[in-house]
Amino acid sequence: MLIRPRRNRKNAAMRSLVRETVLRASDLIWPCFLVESSEQESEIKSMPGVYRLTTESLLTQVEELVGLGVGAIALFPALEDSLKTPDARESWNEKGLLQRAVRTLKKNFPEVVLITDVAMDPYSSDGHDGVVKDGRILNDETLPILAKMALSQAQAGADMVAPSDMMDGRIGFIRDVLDNEGFTDVSIMAYSAKYASAFYGPFRDALDSAPKSGDKKTYQMDPANVREALLEVELDIQEGADVVMVKPAMAYLDVIAQTADCSPVPVAAYQVSGEYAMLKAASQLGWLDEEQVVMESLLAIKRAGSDMILTYFAPQVARWLRR
Ligand code: PBG
Repeated sequence: MLIRPRRNRKNAAMRSLVRETVLRASDLIWPCFLVESSEQESEIKSMPGVYRLTTESLLTQVEELVGLGVGAIALFPALEDSLKTPDARESWNEKGLLQRAVRTLKKNFPEVVLITDVAMDPYSSDGHDGVVKDGRILNDETLPILAKMALSQAQAGADMVAPSDMMDGRIGFIRDVLDNEGFTDVSIMAYSAKYASAFYGPFRDALDSAPKSGDKKTYQMDPANVREALLEVELDIQEGADVVMVKPAMAYLDVIAQTADCSPVPVAAYQVSGEYAMLKAASQLGWLDEEQVVMESLLAIKRAGSDMILTYFAPQVARWLRR
């Protein structure tokens, strides 16, 4: 036999030499949920091991994370119902929970990349990512709200704003406002190919942010489509996105691969709450080996072409990598 592929697998050192993809702690972004007071700190039922944390607790966690080589976090505030309105006005309150957290984190960890979510849903009494009128989600009326939110996050010290709303034209709109206000150095990570996915269920539990009526299918993408994802990616890049994202990750590896093939900017993928829940639940039942499946899933996401990965497993993975 002339060609025996097994020769390159004969021992660990040989496998290391021929390995094409390596996962590093510095590839990871840790998404975390913020609450106002310590009485509100709690584990998310559908995401065992993931907690809603106060800024204070987050500081301790981030310190460990930085020590382990993870350099970026994405913040999601969980707000009380009394602060939610149809126009999501709390989202641009300079004294809001998120803005205060960003200031504190930036002061304590100036070198950590702070990523903030730009979308109305955690702040919206309708639970949608856009302004709702007569059951419809208005696009152009939502853009100024998103821009005010992004600006307020930039003013608080966010390094990168991440619009996850899927309104048309929002990247360009936000870029303009940031530039006009002097925030030319604040980056935009665009949730470009964000699908209308049932894998977001646990996240909506975490923030109590599920739509009060209807679904998100008129703005988030149909899981059946990939050509459309490439259009979204192209538009976001034209409008000034510094990073484009595909979300969810594991069921959309083909979308990540095609995006990576054509994108001149870095590609991120989001291993979402439902992906976390699946892997965690099966591991807790003893049906899967947690460390092995988590590492395999992240390696696969990276192999598909993602340069960085948002994952709730980030702290755990960083510990495993350190060992
Ligand atoms: C909302 C937002 C969602 C997620 C991130 N930002 C949920 C949604 O679109 O309903 C999901 C993340 C996850 O499931 O982990 N703008």
